[in-house]
Amino acid sequence: MTQQQTETQPPTGTQHQPGTQAQRGSGTRASLEKGRSEVAAMFDRVAERYDLANDVLSLGQDRAWRKLVLEAVDPQPGDRVLDLAAGTGTSSEPFAAAGAFVVPTDISLGMLTVGKRRSPSLSFVAGDGLQLPYADASFDAVTISFGLRNVSDTVAALTELRRVTKPGGRLVVCEFSTPIWTPFRVVYLNYLVKALPTMARIVSSNPVAYEYLAESILNWPDQPGLAALMEEAGWQQVEWKNLSTGIVALHRGRR
Ligand SMILES: C[S@@+](CC[C@H](N)C(=O)[O-])C[C@H]1O[C@@H](n2cnc3c(N)ncnc32)[C@H](O)[C@@H]1O
Repeated sequence: MTQQQTETQPPTGTQHQPGTQAQRGSGTRASLEKGRSEVAAMFDRVAERYDLANDVLSLGQDRAWRKLVLEAVDPQPGDRVLDLAAGTGTSSEPFAAAGAFVVPTDISLGMLTVGKRRSPSLSFVAGDGLQLPYADASFDAVTISFGLRNVSDTVAALTELRRVTKPGGRLVVCEFSTPIWTPFRVVYLNYLVKALPTMARIVSSNPVAYEYLAESILNWPDQPGLAALMEEAGWQQVEWKNLSTGIVALHRGRR
């Protein structure tokens, strides 16, 4: 049963149905460029300044979001946690600090290289979310922050994440979503389409990547849409919580 945790009204307005443009690969630059090698190459190019750009472009909000991801995953010391699409490992660090054994996994060697230099104690693995290099049922928890939107087949990635999760294990997806308050949604969409690419020209080594970012967010399913894709992949007890009034949503499920 799908449940929304903190908001009583489902988001309205800019709605996206599960499995539309971005997932099925028609139309926009965001969907057309989601081939695995193109995505990996794009992140290779932004790797050096990724974390700085992230902080600036999210107006510092990403730190608060990461704390909430940690709370949702709730790793116990010794738990095996897969952080898929871990990039430079910023999303993995809180799990290691909590005493879990975290495996940051990513398809971009550029992001992994920057990550290993910055956090040498993390056990980075090069791997594709659609063909994970792990045995069935090998993780207590699996998580993906700001990565699922970039994978070319959302349901296939969610299914692969389920395969490597132990029965009863948990999934936490942190991803951009749809703001639930209409006036704010209008301002936010303007920020995405106009201000973000302008700011990206100043702080990022590859501003085109941030045009892709804006388009990929616009083409991503809303909160119920992503919950439906998780259920399609076999996840149970699916629920979500809106962060920053729905700019980001944390979706949870159980294997
Ligand atoms: C926006 S970054 C997120 C990094 C990190 N999780 C964070 O929260 O800062 C998205 C990452 O997804 C990775 N990615 C995209 N497609 C992937 C795939 N098929 N398998 C593994 N990683 C993938 C990219 O290489 C990139 O590092």
